[in-house]
Amino acid sequence: MTTEQHVTPPSTLDPTDWQELRTQGHRMLDDIFNYLENLRERPVWQPIPQTVRARFQAPLPRKPNELADVHESFLQDILPYGVGNSHPGFMGWVQGGGNPVGMLAEMLAAGMNPNVGGRNQIPVEVERQVTQWVREFFNFPETATGLFVTGTSMANLMALWVARTLTLGAEVRQNGLADADKRLVAYTSAGAHGCVAQAVDLAGLGRKSLRVIPMNADFQMDVAKLREAIAADRAAGLHPFFIAATAGSVDVGAIDPLQEIADVAAEEKLWYHVDGAFGALGMLSPRIAPKLAGLERADSIAFDFHKWGQVPYDAGFIIVRDGEAHQNAFASPVNYLRREERGLAGGSPWPCDFGPDLSRGFRALKTWYTLQVYGTEKLGEVIAGTCDIAQYLKDKIDANPALERLAPVALNIVCFRYRCGELQSNDTSIDAEKIDRINADIAVSLQESGVAAPSTTLISGRLAIRAAIVNHRTSKADIDALIEATLSIGAAICKVQ
Ligand SMILES: Cc1ncc(COP(=O)(O)O)c(C=O)c1O
Repeated sequence: MTTEQHVTPPSTLDPTDWQELRTQGHRMLDDIFNYLENLRERPVWQPIPQTVRARFQAPLPRKPNELADVHESFLQDILPYGVGNSHPGFMGWVQGGGNPVGMLAEMLAAGMNPNVGGRNQIPVEVERQVTQWVREFFNFPETATGLFVTGTSMANLMALWVARTLTLGAEVRQNGLADADKRLVAYTSAGAHGCVAQAVDLAGLGRKSLRVIPMNADFQMDVAKLREAIAADRAAGLHPFFIAATAGSVDVGAIDPLQEIADVAAEEKLWYHVDGAFGALGMLSPRIAPKLAGLERADSIAFDFHKWGQVPYDAGFIIVRDGEAHQNAFASPVNYLRREERGLAGGSPWPCDFGPDLSRGFRALKTWYTLQVYGTEKLGEVIAGTCDIAQYLKDKIDANPALERLAPVALNIVCFRYRCGELQSNDTSIDAEKIDRINADIAVSLQESGVAAPSTTLISGRLAIRAAIVNHRTSKADIDALIEATLSIGAAICKVQ
């Protein structure tokens, strides 16, 4: 038996020929670089042919396949059929475009394969480093703690857990809500993302414990109504404890009046949380940051590096001002995670003490690379640039009588609709459902055209075509293409009405 045979178990997954793997790996890297380099030549999105869909009902692969063959399947059947959020014409929902540096870092992270739940390892320090930078973005104190999570939905839920535990005392972790002597109530705006209500639900408070505060004309939380709701709840013997403000609402990109909400929270002694899923990173742009005044007063902020930060999915983040309260909500000493001063079990507290996950990937690396390679000034320019592009779209819509804008453009989201000749959406004599249907059809046809991919939402009960400019690649030419395609598709659909 040779030494090689002796050290390599017969069942290893490593190759026998590293050179062959290296060559194939370089080919795969080239393929994905080619994809990114030539994104514009592809449709933003294309429907998945039935034959392709059917290939994902294959039987369990019990025997090995050649990597090159599997990769060929990826090129043919997977790569062309994503939603297209890397493409400059993608404007649906709120999705970041990723970046090639972050992609490379993700590959390195997978190669290194650390489990960043804890222990004495440098990947934990990389995450602490990014946390330190996040404190700097938001002017948070050294005592604030942070953690990478899947996304803002999870970060919002965690903020709620921390506030709940602080309000009810650590015993709630043992006794549950049923034994609590306070009936907790939370507050958010009617423009808040659905994950806020879901968080209240998942935290066991029940959705009826969430007060949905109406919005003002700028789609911001109406603070006078917030005060009224808190007073009414106190009068009813309930216990207000949590306000979730929004910095960059999902529908229109509105920023709640953060200073005023911070004042209310301070006066009423409530936890002031900000869902800044995409908007919070506006702090990186000197032009956008003033709009976010009051964010720095938050007790906790949830946001995503994978949206405006352009880090590849997923890279959500939560920062909590009171690090002790954060840790008290999650840390659970168990024998097999015992800490030491030295050795691998050193370096306490660990990331797993600040969230529900024990096994955690190395999300920090792609974020660390992205921040380092581009620098926050450049990322801030990208963020402000998407707002400029949104203003360009807004101006085009306002200048075109065939189009109608449905909401102010505070940041990077534009909601509009096609008027369809005689049909005026504010004319109640016209079948409102019909014009909604026409605009929904326009949005679907735009997606199917491969030219642009907006999504839709309801603005004051009316269906809007919604363009969220999040991707660093989106240019004015993409907006021109969106407008042109909307007008021609709209005209064609209206003709047959
Ligand atoms: C304002 C807001 N909050 C929360 C979320 C949910 O974030 P995630 O998808 O990262 O969980 C989004 C997603 O678009 C959002 O726009």
